[in-house]
Formats: sequence, structure tokens, C-alpha cells
Amino acid sequence: MKLIGVIDAGTNKIRFVIYQTPSFEELCSHELRIKQISPKQGWLEHDPQEIISAVRECAKVAMHLLPNHGFSKSDIASIGITNQRETIVMWNKKTGDPLHNAIVWKDTRTMTSVDEILQKLNVDKDHFRELSGLPVSSIPSALKIRWLKKFVPSVRDACRDGLCLAGTIDSWIVWNLIRGLHVTDCTNASRTLLMNLSTLMWDSQLTKAFKIDDTILPEIKSSSEIYGRINDGSELDGLVISSIIGNQQASLLGQQCFKIGQAKSTYRSGCFLLCNVGSKPVYSSHGLVTTVGYKFGKEPPVYALEGNIAIGGAALKWLKDNLGLLSDAAESESLANMVPTTGDCYFVPAFRGLFAPYYQQEARGVICGLTAFTTKNHIIRAALETVCYQITDIIEAMKKDAGFHLAKLHCDGKMAQNGLLMQLQADIIRSQTNDTTSFGCAIAAARAEGIDLIDFTPQNRVYNVKVHHDTYLPTLTDEDRKGRNKKWKMAVERSYGWATS
Ligand code: G3P
Repeated sequence: MKLIGVIDAGTNKIRFVIYQTPSFEELCSHELRIKQISPKQGWLEHDPQEIISAVRECAKVAMHLLPNHGFSKSDIASIGITNQRETIVMWNKKTGDPLHNAIVWKDTRTMTSVDEILQKLNVDKDHFRELSGLPVSSIPSALKIRWLKKFVPSVRDACRDGLCLAGTIDSWIVWNLIRGLHVTDCTNASRTLLMNLSTLMWDSQLTKAFKIDDTILPEIKSSSEIYGRINDGSELDGLVISSIIGNQQASLLGQQCFKIGQAKSTYRSGCFLLCNVGSKPVYSSHGLVTTVGYKFGKEPPVYALEGNIAIGGAALKWLKDNLGLLSDAAESESLANMVPTTGDCYFVPAFRGLFAPYYQQEARGVICGLTAFTTKNHIIRAALETVCYQITDIIEAMKKDAGFHLAKLHCDGKMAQNGLLMQLQADIIRSQTNDTTSFGCAIAAARAEGIDLIDFTPQNRVYNVKVHHDTYLPTLTDEDRKGRNKKWKMAVERSYGWATS
């Protein structure tokens, strides 16, 4: 019986989980929160050294728990890494020291340079979509690297002296665990705006456009193969790394979305919806992005369409922190259940504009439909419904782009524990596996080790592991649903252009 360890380096915390095969039950884990550093409004940074220390500490604590379960380090077959995507670190390849804090994916400092770059290049934001799958925006890593090169003297100097390396969090972790190995996988690389989505290599048209020398970038590998053996002298020393995969793509695997048209939605502070579109990329003309879903070794890649909403669970946090309507986010379920509907109240949480599929930077939040009868419970219920409407809008956009109907939605993330939210979102399947991200990464890591949990032949993609789900079916009539969606769209329009008017 072999074990698989997974390093899950998310935006808020680092986790190390150990799975037992072939059952794939979670044996033990340890996690640590990481500091969210915000030097200015809209900026968000992480300390790269803190990430590495947390990885080592979590691995150490989790591995020390192994004897309680009758296992030891020698039972671990390999390690997988799954991580927050787009976040970029630049470091000195001689000393290994970071040249600056990591710039986190949701940091908005490069928002203002988007128009400037587009003007300079004389192109529109969708110009590189066919090449990279992404529109030009502040989220992919490219503009973050460009910002660091422009404004941080140590980065500039290291680039000039040929001493600079740049990578997403997976690359930073690998480089620290396996000294000198500079690699990433194609799911992470597909979030940089620098990778060609067909060749799965850095594309010179893209690197030139953003003035990034590709020698500082890692080699792009698959999401499941043996990359090397850890040699950092830590508790992990001697183990091999056999998977690297972006966290949203990992949860696509963890939710077993192996067939074209299967989709998952992760409900957290923001929400991430990915749909498997098969071995050929599907490009979006409805505000979504195209990304690599996963690639097992030498097998062809599987692509996904992705749509994200910035304010999911964050709407509840706002009701709690700013309006004091909730004592914690979980309370939203019982309070919203005290009223049968929102009383025709709609909440558009466009705090930082609206993203997919609207892309209205100047939109700002509105709550409309208020009457003398509206109570806090109606508003809380409206905050839950807003998540569902936004997800539904993304599903509609996916249908238009991919041309197929999504029969079911596989759901996970902390906010998916809210049964009312799930019922409002129905028709859906909620996973009872809390952590589908680490689980998905473990599937990829195990596969590289020859531990195959899934029969991947097109004829019979049967999963060998029992994962428990709750299924929610719709209860609304079609007429009712259409009426509510129409009102939601009216509310969305009321939020447009507020920041400029
Ligand atoms: O693209 C950003 C995404 O990977 C962040 O995920 O769960 O760390 O917030 P999470």
C-alpha cells in the first residue's frame, strides 16, 4: 500500500495532505495560513520565503503523524504540488533569494497598464486569445513580471546580469525543493499569457509583446510525470515530485470531470467554474478563458473553458464585516431560510466591477427592489442567490461557446457546504470530499507512479474510488426561473458605469 503526499499552496493557506492508495482516503494533513500583505489598496503580495517555510513545516507535521496510522516516510511513493495560479515570484538563481514579494493573482496594480500596453501594441484585449487562450488583463502573470522588471531595481539588475528567474508558485516550490530545477506544468503556464495553447511552449510573439526574456521562464512539462527527487535536506528529502497542477484544474480532476461537457464549480470567496472541452481548445467569444485542464505525461492535453466570479462568498463577508448582518458566513443558511424568497430583492456585488461574462470595469454594487417589508434575511438570501445567478451566467456563456448543454454541475469549496445555496443553484452535485483540489493533484501524482485510479480509455472511464456526493435537483418551475433571471439581468444593468458617472 503506497501513500501520496500533496502540497496544496493556495492563496490563503499552505496544506500538506497524505493519501492512502488505492482507497485514496485522506490519512493525515497539516495546514498553515500565510500572511496577506497589502502595501496599497488593491495590491496583494505574499512572502515567498514564508511559503517555502510553511510547505516544509506542514510536510514535517503531517509526516510525523504517519506512525499513528502504521506508516512511515518510506511508504510515500511521491509528492504532488497544486497551487494558486498566476501569482508570480522572481528570484536570483545564484543565491536563491526572492527579488521581491510574490505578486498575487488578484493584485490590481497592473490594471492601469493594460490600456497603455494595448495602445502601444495597437491591438485589442482579445488579440492574443487564439494564441494563449486569455485576454490581456491584470490577472495573468505576464503583466506582473513586466511590472517587476519596470519598477524593482533588483529585478532589473538580475535580468541584466542573467541571474533572474521567474515562475508561478509551483516553480518556486520545486526550485527550492529540488535545487536548480526550473520547471512548471502546462496548466500553470496556460495562466501566464506567455504560453502557446497549441504547442504548450513559450511563444515568442507573446514574450516579445510583453518584453519578457524566455530564458528566465521555467521549462513547461506535463501535469503528471516524475520531475525529479527532492534534495533540500528537509523532511521531504529523497521523495520524488510526480505532479504539478494549478489548483482549479486539480479540482476538475478531483471532481472526476474527465468527459467533455463535465464541469465543476468551486465556491469560495470567489468562484471558479471549469468545463472539460476535450483535446482541442474551444475559444470564447462570451468573456470566458481557455486553459489547459490537465495533461498526463505524453498523452495529449485536455482543455477547459473557465469562467470566474470575483465576489462569491466575499458578498457574505461584506454583509458580516461591513453591515454586521451576520456573525459568520455559515449563519447565512439559517437566516436566509427564515424567508421563502428574497421578496424581489436583488444584490449585484460589483464591488470591483463585473468580470465574466460581463467585463464591466466601471460597474459598482447595487441592491435593488427594496421595500418597507425587506428584512436583513431577504438581503442575505439575495446575497446567496447572487452567487447562483453569476454562476448561471457563466454556464450560459459556456453553452454558447462550447455548443453543448451542461447536464450537471459538480460543486465544492467551503461555501458549497451551504445547503440552501446548493438548492438555489440546482441542478447540481455537491462533493462530500472537502478537498477536491488536493485529491485531484493526488490522482495526477499517483498516475505518474503507475498507481492508476481511473480507467482512462474512452470506452470506460470508470473511477475506482468511491467518492460520496449529495445531489440537488431543481425545484423552481421554468417560468419562475426565467422571471428571476430576467430581474437579475435588470439589476446587473443598473450597476453599469457607476464608477464613471
Ligand atoms: O487563479 C487563482 C486561483 O488559482 C486561486 O485559487 O483557491 O488559492 O484562491 P485559491
